[in-house]
Amino acid sequence: MNETLANKESPQHSPRVFSGVQPTANIHLGNYLGAIKRFVSVQHEMESLFCVVDLHAITMPQDPKKLAAQTREIAAAYLAAGIDPEKSIIFVQSSVSAHAELAWLLNCVARMGWLERMTQFKDKSGENSERMSVGLFDYPVLMAADILAYKATHVPVGDDQKQHLELARDIAQRFNSDFKAKGFFPQPEPLIGAEASRIMNLQDGTKKMSKSDAAENSRINLTDDAEQISKKLKRAKTDLFPMPDDVAELKARPEVDNLIGIYAALAEITKEAVVKEFAGLGFGAFKPKLADLAVDKLSPISAEMRKFMADPTQIDKILEKGAIRAREIAMPILQETKNLIGFWGAD
Ligand code: TYM
Repeated sequence: MNETLANKESPQHSPRVFSGVQPTANIHLGNYLGAIKRFVSVQHEMESLFCVVDLHAITMPQDPKKLAAQTREIAAAYLAAGIDPEKSIIFVQSSVSAHAELAWLLNCVARMGWLERMTQFKDKSGENSERMSVGLFDYPVLMAADILAYKATHVPVGDDQKQHLELARDIAQRFNSDFKAKGFFPQPEPLIGAEASRIMNLQDGTKKMSKSDAAENSRINLTDDAEQISKKLKRAKTDLFPMPDDVAELKARPEVDNLIGIYAALAEITKEAVVKEFAGLGFGAFKPKLADLAVDKLSPISAEMRKFMADPTQIDKILEKGAIRAREIAMPILQETKNLIGFWGAD
């Protein structure tokens, strides 16, 4: 195993990766570069579980007629991107009851004040927090349960999930100390990439690329074909100046920073190298190169995704097998957790 991937704070726990993506419509380039692309590489370093988190998806209203298809779509994206179902465990959150059950136990450990500080809830609820589901407020506790149900030590996520990971660490620590079970739950470490951990909206470099943005031009969906990818990137907002010759300039040019970041992540080079290659040129020279690169890297994934989506039985078999393997890990951990709490039947 790679030295840098050892969990220094929880050396007694064997390294294990857990991460998830919600089956909400419009899986996009940010989900791919910030999370899924990194799942693909980390699976070769450590035992890994990749979940389709449908319990999280229903914290916001979902169409019951579409939820199952959206769930298969995320599984298809995992497979198309290169997650190997023989090696990694791919499964659906609601098919392993330990997630919901552990979330309840951890609800009684987490503190209201901790959740009240979560910025994602504030962003999603805006002025309407009174009308939001209790589930949306509790979202980060369920996320902690996802991770701790497997005693996962490493969690690859985009930058927006950092605060939720900190909360998961606080909950783990509090459980261990409340129940005098030193080191029972590990301190899960976020794995956040140096590049592409926050891909921005193509029309507004100050907003995150998001599944829920009404403007189709704001994001590249993983299901977009070559023509759509190319069109969206060529129409992406830029400014009137030539390409920068120094990365320091990017701070004041968020849209340009984002496009250079996307190029760097897709080409697997640094932003510095991109800046050096295109310094002083116009966007008329850069954008077609970026579009070609994106089509080259993404269209094989969308083609594979379409193939998987055309064969739902194959996806379902993989998910069923994944759920069995996931339960085998989570159920004994859940039982140990209940024993520590002192429930009847465990005494
Ligand atoms: P979701 O579906 O909202 O996002 C899935 C992953 O994509 C990352 N991401 C981005 N990365 C870069 N740029 C963006 N614009 C961008 N938008 C999204 C997210 O950070 C995430 O890694 N709460 C999680 C799902 C989850 C989870 C977990 C993750 C539930 N339980 C346990 C890890 C461990 C989420 O944000 O899903």
